[in-house]
Amino acid sequence: MTHAIVTCSEYFTELALNELHRHHKHLTCIRQISPQHLFIKHSASFGQFTKPSKNKLPIYLHHAFPVHKNMPLDGSLDDLTRLREQAHDLCQGDFDVQARIVGDYPHTMLSVAQSIRRDHVLVANDLPQGRVLSLLIDGQCAYMGISWATQNLSPYNGGKMPSDEPVPNRAGLKMIESLAAFGIRLRPGSHALDLGAAPGAWTEVLRRRGLRVTAVAPQEMYPWLQADPDVSSYYMLAEDYLGQCDTVYDLIVNDMRLDARDSARLMVAYAQHLRADGIAIMTLKLRMHHRLSLMDHALRILRKAYKIIRVRQLVSNRREVTLYLRRRDF
Ligand SMILES: C[S@@+](CC[C@H](N)C(=O)[O-])C[C@H]1O[C@@H](n2cnc3c(N)ncnc32)[C@H](O)[C@@H]1O
Repeated sequence: MTHAIVTCSEYFTELALNELHRHHKHLTCIRQISPQHLFIKHSASFGQFTKPSKNKLPIYLHHAFPVHKNMPLDGSLDDLTRLREQAHDLCQGDFDVQARIVGDYPHTMLSVAQSIRRDHVLVANDLPQGRVLSLLIDGQCAYMGISWATQNLSPYNGGKMPSDEPVPNRAGLKMIESLAAFGIRLRPGSHALDLGAAPGAWTEVLRRRGLRVTAVAPQEMYPWLQADPDVSSYYMLAEDYLGQCDTVYDLIVNDMRLDARDSARLMVAYAQHLRADGIAIMTLKLRMHHRLSLMDHALRILRKAYKIIRVRQLVSNRREVTLYLRRRDF
């Protein structure tokens, strides 16, 4: 019997649960600790529980770690002593600590983690090498488990990939995370088409990697991108740029705030401007009800021109998923 904490986006909890049930018929959700954290019970080992997700990365699940102990908390200083005792009871040797707190709790994440192991607290950018003591505190209760970093669904705390690359807005994090999550290496000198580019974080990330960018959006780009000779800006809708586009790009990226199906149709129309075997990264906005059927419909449209390599609800996505596509041969 395995107990585990599973992490997902607060906007996709239900779909994350569906995804879990699809692979694990005998899984019970004991408690929803927060919109992002589920406490679950499963009849197999933790390794068997995470195996399907290791073979084929899930869409909605961000992280999972095993729970071997849970203990009530009262917020006193005594909590820290008891957490330390319980942790060292669970694991004697060398281990790192990944701690998260949801809801109100008087102690900080760092003070909790440091009370357990002063010198082995993982900050956001550290990749754990060996054993990890994972800890989730929901104010009244601590959920604690020990595992190898490689056994957990993600080696990172909460599944959030580390990056200290500066971005001019939050959208930039999506591009950085998608390049890492999909294992995409961009070639300097390649030419990218950025649809819905404004204000310009994606263009900025691509420029930093040495790509030339054609940016299409009805709004203005950041001033420094307007002044960049390797950024060509077209202040118009993607629908309108299509009629005058006479370039074949190496990469198309699309973060347009548009109905998912309309965005997919535009991508199919733009496929003629993507080189054979060229790749595309796009977000599908899933704000409405019936998100599954909306996504299925958009994917069906996209398959006319693209192979869908990966669909992932990234940690930095909000009410959307990110797709990694490759152009089909016509
Ligand atoms: C989420 S923002 C994109 C942020 C951008 N990726 C960045 O990194 O700064 C969505 C953008 O899509 C643009 N947009 C919406 N509909 C569009 C369309 N039909 N054609 C082109 N751009 C569109 C909006 O004007 C807005 O700039």
